[in-house]
Amino acid sequence: MKPRGGKRGAARDLTGPGRSITMIYRRRILKGLLYFLMFFVSCAVIYNSYTKKQRRAPYCLGTNEEPPPLPADTCRNIKNIITISQIKKIKSDELRKHVKDLQRCPWSRNASALMAIRSELQACCDAARYFLVTQENTQIGDNITYETQKSRQIVVTETLHKMFPKTSVFNKPIRSCAVVGNGGILRNSCCGAEIDRADYVFRFNLPPMNYSDDTGRKTNLVTANPSIVSKRYSRLHERRRPFMDLVKTFEPAPILMAAFSYPGTTDVTFKVFYTLDEFGSQQKVVYYHPNYLTNLAVYWKENGIAVRRLSSGFMIVSTALEICDKVTLYGFWPFDQDTNGKPILHHYYDNMPPKRGAHSMPDEFFYTQMHSKGIVKLQVEKCF
Ligand SMILES: *[C@@H]1O[C@H](CO)[C@@H](O)[C@H](O)[C@H]1NC(C)=O
Ligand SMILES: *[C@@H]1O[C@H](CO)[C@@H](O)[C@H](O)[C@H]1NC(C)=O
Ligand SMILES: *[C@@H]1O[C@H](CO)[C@@H](O)[C@H](O)[C@H]1NC(C)=O
Repeated sequence: MKPRGGKRGAARDLTGPGRSITMIYRRRILKGLLYFLMFFVSCAVIYNSYTKKQRRAPYCLGTNEEPPPLPADTCRNIKNIITISQIKKIKSDELRKHVKDLQRCPWSRNASALMAIRSELQACCDAARYFLVTQENTQIGDNITYETQKSRQIVVTETLHKMFPKTSVFNKPIRSCAVVGNGGILRNSCCGAEIDRADYVFRFNLPPMNYSDDTGRKTNLVTANPSIVSKRYSRLHERRRPFMDLVKTFEPAPILMAAFSYPGTTDVTFKVFYTLDEFGSQQKVVYYHPNYLTNLAVYWKENGIAVRRLSSGFMIVSTALEICDKVTLYGFWPFDQDTNGKPILHHYYDNMPPKRGAHSMPDEFFYTQMHSKGIVKLQVEKCF
């Protein structure tokens, strides 16, 4: 390259100036443009890496640590073992190992298997119409029968009828759903971005939303057990603002409660309804239809799940199977060790052990079986 001065000198010496000067200017302009472009590109690179760091926690920025995939034969074998094995015969350690191995097998959706279970669920339970108590499926003067106590009923008064949404929340099919359990396996999972990309996100029992790198930020429906309102928010007899602050973290999702499962908890679920209403919240309280839950329990009993009452995880997974074309489960893992044997918390946000009998193994076994059949995707490893 010629030095700058030289070029300038050359320009002065030229006898036929017109063309050469234009050429020099053109060069300078090009050079200027080039510098500007370089500046712009480096700005963009710096900005991008900055925002990326802002978006993802440090532990999510590591290189891809995914182990190599297992051979196709091995994968097929594991899937076969799980598909044909029975819940009573499989040991927890064995299941843990299978799930670990399965995470190294490619997962692909089996559309016909999903359609088969979906049409069975639609026939028995029909989530699109009966998932919630609505003004459409319940009339004034009807009696709603309690799920767990068939002798107890509640009459639908005009006031009660007005509390119900006009129609179900599921008016049209949904492409992809994330069902996000609260298991400790979710902590440090870095699955937040992936969860937020789902079209519809289900969450359970008003969980803390301040781990968004792992859990995501988006919620379309969140359940609330009456006990959390009774215990943590004194049945809303005292200050209600803290409860409203919690509810707000799920905006704009409706709060789903089982008002008609146990007669003793109807009151507190209505209290939640009135509290949201009086605070002018845009969020609604919606109620499971007890008949829907009864029918689901019958369906699963016929399909090998003998429990007194389905877990809320299992209820929502069943609902998702009916209305979503793709269902991915996150944070469902009932063991106190991850797939590598490392101890994990009970919940992603604390280490309070669950009630005895809750989060039991049958659920996990059936989720694993559905994963093997290509019906749902069970995500237990980190998301990259
Ligand atoms: C998909 O599931 C059906 C059963 O519903 C089964 O017959 C078929 O072999 C499965 N397809 C694959 C590719 O696994
Ligand atoms: C609801 O129950 C009451 C008795 O508790 C009965 O008189 C009434 O006819 C019932 N309504 C319907 C629609 O079945
Ligand atoms: C999230 O909030 C809870 C209180 O609700 C707190 O105990 C916990 O430390 C917070 N965690 C993070 C990562 O901010």
